[in-house]
Amino acid sequence: MARLKLGVLISGSGTNLQALIDDCARTDAASEIALVLSNRADAFGLTRAAQAGLPHRVIDHRAHDSRAGFEQTLSAALEAHGVGLVCLAGFMRVLTAAFVERWRDRLINIHPSLLPAFKGLDTHARAIEAGVRFAGCTVHFVRSEVDSGPIIVQAAVPVLPDDTAERLAARVLREEHRCLPLAVRLIAQGRVSVVGERCVIDAAGPSGALINPALTA
Ligand code: GRF
Repeated sequence: MARLKLGVLISGSGTNLQALIDDCARTDAASEIALVLSNRADAFGLTRAAQAGLPHRVIDHRAHDSRAGFEQTLSAALEAHGVGLVCLAGFMRVLTAAFVERWRDRLINIHPSLLPAFKGLDTHARAIEAGVRFAGCTVHFVRSEVDSGPIIVQAAVPVLPDDTAERLAARVLREEHRCLPLAVRLIAQGRVSVVGERCVIDAAGPSGALINPALTA
């Protein structure tokens, strides 16, 4: 079967991109990275793409007069490479409704919180401040409202008493690196459908309950 072609959009270090690169390197992978795009020339993720021998390109939003023009360039590049699924992996530009609609149900994002809690930036500091016992990450299909859309995969991690935003971020990031490839696999295997703005995952087993703090006798 033909592999699903991924377009990965980044702005920074690209550790989530690396997780996809590693997962797509499996011989039985159902997807392949067709193109890596960055809006920043200094994104380390571009080096990762080059090291993996992947097509990559900088599309600088500042070189465009309008958001629409920037997004037109993005879409043209993605379509020229036959991309079937766009992955936002630390891509720090808000996309317009027109772009989101053009890629509807073919556009996913990884966000470092258990959505719908803590949309936006500084999620870890806000989670600590709120005193929640669990934080985590979410992979979801993108809708025009920021950090919203049908949820595909989530991972929960405990918030620990001595956590700083940095420590919590590192714990969540490790799970991001599992969740994004998992979501891509499920989509590439044709197991994800959006029904009434919720994701239905074919043949997915439930995971067990988590309790934090751990129960003591
Ligand atoms: C991740 O935490 C991602 O969820 C967030 O930005 C960070 C990007 O990390 N939106 P990387 O560039 O994949 O290393």
